[in-house]
Amino acid sequence: MSAEITAAQLAEVDRPIGEARGMPNAAYTDARFFAFERDHLFAKTWTALAFCDDHAREGGVAPVDFMGVPLIIARRAKKDGGELAVFHNVCSHRGMRLVGEPAQTNGLLVCPYHAWSYDLGGKLVATPHIGGVGENRAEGFCREKHGLKQVRSHCWMGILFINLSGDAPEFNEHAAPLISRYREFLGEDGAQLLAAPAKDAGLTLEAACNWKLAVENYCEAYHLPWVHPSLNSYSPLARHYCMLIHDDFAGQGTDTFAPTFDGADALPLFPEWPREKRAVAEYPTFYPNLLLGYQVNHFYAMIIHPLAPARVREEVKLFYIGDGAADARHARARRENLAAWRKIFFEDVGAVEGMQQGRQSPGFRGGVFSPKLDAPTHHFHRWVARKYRAAYAHNGTGVAGGAAAQNGRE
Ligand code: FES
Ligand SMILES: [Fe+2]
Repeated sequence: MSAEITAAQLAEVDRPIGEARGMPNAAYTDARFFAFERDHLFAKTWTALAFCDDHAREGGVAPVDFMGVPLIIARRAKKDGGELAVFHNVCSHRGMRLVGEPAQTNGLLVCPYHAWSYDLGGKLVATPHIGGVGENRAEGFCREKHGLKQVRSHCWMGILFINLSGDAPEFNEHAAPLISRYREFLGEDGAQLLAAPAKDAGLTLEAACNWKLAVENYCEAYHLPWVHPSLNSYSPLARHYCMLIHDDFAGQGTDTFAPTFDGADALPLFPEWPREKRAVAEYPTFYPNLLLGYQVNHFYAMIIHPLAPARVREEVKLFYIGDGAADARHARARRENLAAWRKIFFEDVGAVEGMQQGRQSPGFRGGVFSPKLDAPTHHFHRWVARKYRAAYAHNGTGVAGGAAAQNGRE
């Protein structure tokens, strides 16, 4: 089996859906393509990294490994703006990893090797003994030039995104097609109302599959009758529709969402959500690694963390509407909602792992698509193929090596 992905194979992905093939097996199994995708698919756009709420404490820092790139998430003190910042997790001196585990700081990050220290704006503020014992300055050494390397980041809907290359369009411009699609439902303020209660609001799962299979599976409702028979009994395949929202967003939706609106513990609704569309629920993917769920009484996000060519960790957070949604009286509704999603998300694990196993077969050459029900999945394959082609055009054909693109802001 060839481990190269050729321009001709990419062209096959890009054909009209009825004639197209999917991405070749090597894109799902080969470590070189994992690194290639990190540098050319993930690094160059806005990629979901974490949930903002999980990094709420002022002065808190946490290491995060992003496809092999060590990063730090830091929450600045309120007096310094209180926002989240992301840095490369490496000391400017001799390259020590700065943060090994989540920690609470007093506003200073101190390198464990020679104690060079940085504030949470990334500024290098202390260089003990750099000029000899007792001399904390050295002639010709300019601290201003050796701060931490910051990674461009942005918070939206409770999710922290990064753009490793530093040159993607502004986040709000990039996400505009998605934001404008849901303005009708969320209103101008809907995103501000999201609250993620500390309890019963999240889950994590791992699956032995390539990250792209998790996306491809989420894009379509075609598998509902066989993978999710109980969901399909009240939200049948026939009541789902495909959404090709824009180059970077696609998925599926339904008009059969039917929560309980009455009763003391009924969850609050998005106030602007049109009454006649309460049964609408939509499930777009924000390429490359964020799966979203919009419902009248909650929103969820699943961040896919690619760990290896055939391994992902999926982190889900459920958000409710208004601070009151976190009250104890809604505890049962939240618990039941989480249990329902847990069941569905775990049902998908067998499907994505089975597709990964199928990628070991020389008898499979990318597969084909249902011209109707696989449309969003093909849309995603084309997005992937387009990114490969752009990288090949830039680097010459073949797999590009090299480290992840970096934003070198000093
Ligand atoms: S490597 Fe960090 S202080 Fe020397
Ligand atoms: Fe599913």
